Amino acid sequence: MFASDRISPRSLGRLIRSASASVLVATVGDVVVGYFVLLFRAGSSRARLYSIAIAPQQAGRGLGKALLAAAEREAERRAAASLHLEVRADNSRAVCLYERNGYRRFGRLDSYYADGAAALRFEKVLSSKKRPKPIAARSARPSGTAPS
Ligand SMILES: CC(C)(COP(=O)(O)OP(=O)(O)OC[C@H]1O[C@@H](n2cnc3c(N)ncnc32)[C@H](O)[C@@H]1OP(=O)(O)O)[C@@H](O)C(=O)NCCC(=O)NCCS
Repeated sequence: MFASDRISPRSLGRLIRSASASVLVATVGDVVVGYFVLLFRAGSSRARLYSIAIAPQQAGRGLGKALLAAAEREAERRAAASLHLEVRADNSRAVCLYERNGYRRFGRLDSYYADGAAALRFEKVLSSKKRPKPIAARSARPSGTAPS
């Protein structure tokens, strides 16, 4: 889709049809200007931001930030507790985007990419508003009854 993109149109098509992925495509008229792909795993409350990119001509106008915020809302909508991602250590623009938007760096993976570049791992805890409360916390205990 974009020069810097590592997802082929075929893979993107497969992800769009997958129940374990959320894909959002931003358009201006008929032109695709950005997208994100989120992945979810059954039994895991951690969503993964698999890919996010904007068209180069849109750079620096806030579209990346807006897509990131939309990805977080979508992850919350699907009851994720946190969002994590890997980013090339030399991708200063993306690293800056994550750091300025509340992502915490929690690891580094050397030689993660095919060209030997390292990845930095980032994570953000999401708002708990949309998540169902654990059953134990939801059930009211009759007053005066000691916890069992
Ligand atoms: C990373 C990317 C999504 C950022 O999109 P963008 O629309 O240019 O970013 P925004 O305009 O929303 O800016 C968001 C933040 O990026 C950083 N940023 C923007 N322009 C920058 C620049 N010229 N140099 C360094 N950082 C910059 C800033 O931290 C900015 O936050 P601020 O506005 O609060 O200062 C975009 O550069 C992109 O698609 N890159 C190629 C694909 C990619 O690297 N994806 C991430 C893989 S994990």
